[in-house]
Amino acid sequence: MGNDTVKGSNKSLWARRERAIPRALTSLHQRFADTARNTALVDVEGREYIDFATGIAVCNTGHSDPRIVAAVKAQLDRFSHLCFQVTPYESYVELAEKLNALAPGPTPKKTIFLTTGAEALENAVKIARAHTGRRGIITFQGGYHGRTLLTMAMTGKVAPYKARFGPMPSDVFHVRFPIPYHGFGDDDALAALQATFAASIEPAAVAAIVIEPVLGEGGFYVASPYFLQSLRKLCDQHGILLICDEVQSGFARTGRLFASEYAGIEPDIMTIAKAMAGGFPISGVIGKAAIMDSPDPGGLGGTYAGSPLGCVAGLEVLKIIEGDRLCERANAIGGLIRKRLEALRSAGARFIGDVRGLGAMMAMELVVDGDPQKPDPALTKAIVADAAELGLLLLSCGIRSNVIRFLPALTASDATVNEALDRLEKVLRARMSKAA
Ligand SMILES: Cc1ncc(COP(=O)(O)O)c(C=O)c1O
Repeated sequence: MGNDTVKGSNKSLWARRERAIPRALTSLHQRFADTARNTALVDVEGREYIDFATGIAVCNTGHSDPRIVAAVKAQLDRFSHLCFQVTPYESYVELAEKLNALAPGPTPKKTIFLTTGAEALENAVKIARAHTGRRGIITFQGGYHGRTLLTMAMTGKVAPYKARFGPMPSDVFHVRFPIPYHGFGDDDALAALQATFAASIEPAAVAAIVIEPVLGEGGFYVASPYFLQSLRKLCDQHGILLICDEVQSGFARTGRLFASEYAGIEPDIMTIAKAMAGGFPISGVIGKAAIMDSPDPGGLGGTYAGSPLGCVAGLEVLKIIEGDRLCERANAIGGLIRKRLEALRSAGARFIGDVRGLGAMMAMELVVDGDPQKPDPALTKAIVADAAELGLLLLSCGIRSNVIRFLPALTASDATVNEALDRLEKVLRARMSKAA
């Protein structure tokens, strides 16, 4: 898969990168990509990797699926950009119709498309404020919603996302996310929410509670059905909108099209992005029609919002999820990962404190001596680096930076997943012997 157009070694490109690009924009792996197809990524030096990062949960359908590429090429031959606010096109409407029908719950839905996940969240908040006439937004500690000013304020982790970037937009309040593994359960989190209502903002002034059904950047902690159902009830009781941020958990990653389906709840608004178009930049806000129609004409939009390339890619992704049964594959792949990691833990890998996830949104939390209160971010970094040396690209995450998340393409075969896990096992076994 080598490509003659790529010049330079990883080392020389890295040196150029350091000179040309600000240090605040980091790259986890010092390896420059040449090509990527399905689960395989080849770097500029011709080394092949199994990619378990998928561009941060974007390529659920694998890299450059030929069906998506063909649809986008055909679209490019017709037009690449018009701006939906100027001259609309059918693919936008068709994708909205399809997502309205697929979103959880019986209430009729409407959808607007944007470009990035953060932009989806920004718009969800605008819509919620216009609908309720209220100011307050409640989000969760450890949650991640983006890097724009408002989504930075909504994000529940200071370093590196917020430090030195203040002042923050006002009326955003953070509540602790339930993490039983850290000794903080669902009822503790519900009590924390009540405490916020008592100490910081009255429920009648809250426009929305925004939650990731599975914390993404925060560490793949899964909100239980009980917790999401309790939030749903609380929101109904106080006229607060429930916004589920499915940017990372959506599009079959968790074994359902959307993770919030597991709780059987109907969110008032959902934000989507990442895997919805297999790598083409498009995001969206899906919501109950009456809520979505609250802002006045002209109040929502954007030049590139709902790009025609993203729309046709999105339509193709939905076909692939259904045709290739990617929800089933997500559960099968997640099962393989869970089994192998649990086995290693039982075999004495005491640093694997927790193995968790939904479908193929799996993670392991690394701690010292099996103690949940002793995170091991240094070991986490080392394992990610060692795995890359063996040809496996992984991503870390977590409130305490001690979680390795597994985000393989859902189009990966069992053989590829097992090969990736063999490589990981080698790395983990080497650490086990070091610790012994
Ligand atoms: C749950 C969640 N919401 C929002 C975002 C922001 O998306 P983007 O990086 O496309 O702005 C992310 C990105 O990781 C995310 O995981």
